[in-house]
Formats: sequence, C-alpha cells, structure tokens
Amino acid sequence: MREPLPSIDKLKEIARPKVRPLIWCSENKILKVLDQRKLPFEEEYYNAATVEDIYKCIREMYVRGAPAIGICASYGMAIAAYDALKRGLDIEKTLEHLRRCGQYIASARPTAVNLEWAVKHMLNVAETLVSEGKVRNTRELAESLEREAINVQEEEFEIELKIGLNGLEKLRECSSVMTQCNAGGLAGAGIGTALAPMKVAKYLGMDIKVYVPETRPWLQGARLTVYELHVEGIPYVLIADTAVGYVMYRGMVEAVIVGADRILRDGHVINKIGTFKEAVIAHELGIPFYVAAPKTTFDMERKIEEVKIEERDPDEVRKIRGVLITLPDAPVYNPVFDITPPKYVTAIITEYGNIHPPYIKNIPRTLQQA
Ligand code: MRU
Repeated sequence: MREPLPSIDKLKEIARPKVRPLIWCSENKILKVLDQRKLPFEEEYYNAATVEDIYKCIREMYVRGAPAIGICASYGMAIAAYDALKRGLDIEKTLEHLRRCGQYIASARPTAVNLEWAVKHMLNVAETLVSEGKVRNTRELAESLEREAINVQEEEFEIELKIGLNGLEKLRECSSVMTQCNAGGLAGAGIGTALAPMKVAKYLGMDIKVYVPETRPWLQGARLTVYELHVEGIPYVLIADTAVGYVMYRGMVEAVIVGADRILRDGHVINKIGTFKEAVIAHELGIPFYVAAPKTTFDMERKIEEVKIEERDPDEVRKIRGVLITLPDAPVYNPVFDITPPKYVTAIITEYGNIHPPYIKNIPRTLQQA
C-alpha cells in the first residue's frame, strides 16, 4: 500500500529550498534579485532600489518565470510607495503615483499574467486601505504595502508546496519525467511549480529523475534547471531540444510536467516556446502531459486571440552567450512562448487540487471554490 503524503504543515517543516531568487531587505527597502542571466557560472545579486530597477530586472530577465516576476512586481509597488514618501507626496498623490508605477512595471513583459495580477493586487490593497481609512499617511501606506509584498512571497511559497504535494499524487509512480524551461524555485518562491513535485519527492526521500531540454534560445533548461536540480540534489539529464521526441519515443519518461505563464478558462496553456511540441508528442505516444500552476497564472478574462506572445531580440537566436552562430544579419523570428490547446493537457495541477477535462467546466468550478 502507498504511504500517505504528509500534511502541508509537516512539509513546511522539512522543506529547505536551496535557491533564493528574491530577497527583501527591510532595513534599506532594497530587493536583492539573483541575476539569472549569469547562472550557472556566477551567483550574483543585483540590488533593486527603484521602480526603474524593478522594471529593468523583469524586462532584461535578471528575474524570470511567472510567479517570480509577480513577486518582484509586488515589491516594486512597495518601493514605489516608499519613493512617494521620499518625495513628500500626500496619500492621494501617492495613489496616483502607484497607478503610474504599476502601469510601467506591468509593461515590462507581456505574457506572464502573474505580473499584471501582482500590480492589480497591490493597487487594490492600497486603494482599499485608503478608502477604508485604515492608513493615515503615506508612511503607513508604504509600510502596509511592504507587508503585503512579503505576504505575496510567503503565500507563494506555501502554494508551491501544495502544488508539489498535488503533483506528487500524479507522479509518485514515475521514475523519470520531462520538463521544459525552468519552472522551478528560481521562477517562483524557492520551490517552483513544475519542479515542485520532484522537490517534495526529494524532501520525502524519493528520487524522480528529470529530463531537461536545453530550451533555446535563452537556455533556461541548460543554465537554470540544471543548476537548480544540481544544488537540490535531484537527478537529471540534460538533452538538446531536438532530442525531445526521441527520448519520449524510447519510453525514457513516464510523464511530462511543465509550468505556465498563462492558462485561459478553456484550458489553453501559454508557456515557454517548445512546450506545444512536447505536448503533441506526448499525446501521440500516450504519455501524460501535466501543467503545474498557481491560481494567479489563470486568466479568466481573455480569449486566446487577445493574448500577446512576447517576441524578443533576434540576437538571442543568432548568438549563444554572445557568440554568433549564424550570419550577423540572418532574418530571425523569436517568439518566446507558445500555445498548447486543451486537448493535449492531461491535467492541471494547482494548489486547490488537480483539474481534469473538460476544462471549460472544471477550471471555473475549481477556482471558484478558492
Ligand atoms: O521567459 P521566462 O524564462 O520568464 O519563461 C518562463 C516560463 O515559461 C515558465 O515555464 C513559466 O513562467 C512557469 S514558471 C513557474
């Protein structure tokens, strides 16, 4: 008989993540951002002290991954409130300043809905505190927003553990799985989404091996997932993106699990480029394809035609770590996310449980309970 999985409280006691993408320093109101552009070779933190710094860290991918971007934006809004305090703005002017800063931060990257969620959430909190008279001045508002950003980060940590537990229900019979990109602790609050079940398995003394596609062009797989699994002591094998089909065909993985940047109410999944290919091959070969994501990654409003897929600098494709691999002016198309239709998704793993098709019915039903 299978052992029951531990409770979330028990898991919190034993979870010791070894990666920390974002560290808030309350004494000087600075967010230390692990510079993921330099991993796995250098572990260097950048001190983000202004709203412009926060925008730059998200836009230029010092921090990346949907939940981590959301946490970073939440601290960005707290930094904006302290900025208003320094400028001597009254509470009404501070709200205006927060709306402007929020728009600016949210425009840093277009696809991960967690960014938009975080900005809206922080603005809502600020507006409610002011309208209900719960803060008397800009200092109190800034301090409240700082506490709220810390909450967002702490809650995300617990959510990721719950996703890990729910995901492990699906994966505990598997000895090896495939992922895409980095949907680990570096992309969240230290545990991650797609990598969370393997982390929880590790905490419980089990090993699930992870096949890691390199994830060209930015190499989140080769640079970040390999680094994270290495430091966490989780077994892994790096593969070229072009080896994905062969590895599945050879029966080397029993499931695929990826994260998401946005999931629509009908179950369309927007995630790192290459995800769609994995989903189609898995479907063809009868391999389960799971998507792991928190509630904040669901976009219940938009239709698929309304989602903007980010396109990045052509040089990300022409070069690998600054070295040209083609003609310097080769025409390039560089979309960095793709869309997986719901029919390829076996289940969506969330902190509220695992959602199965039909998604159009079961996504709203599950999230409404939340
Ligand atoms: O361009 P990135 O590195 O921000 O893309 C990240 C992904 O696509 C992740 O799979 C997704 O954000 C989920 S992270 C838990």
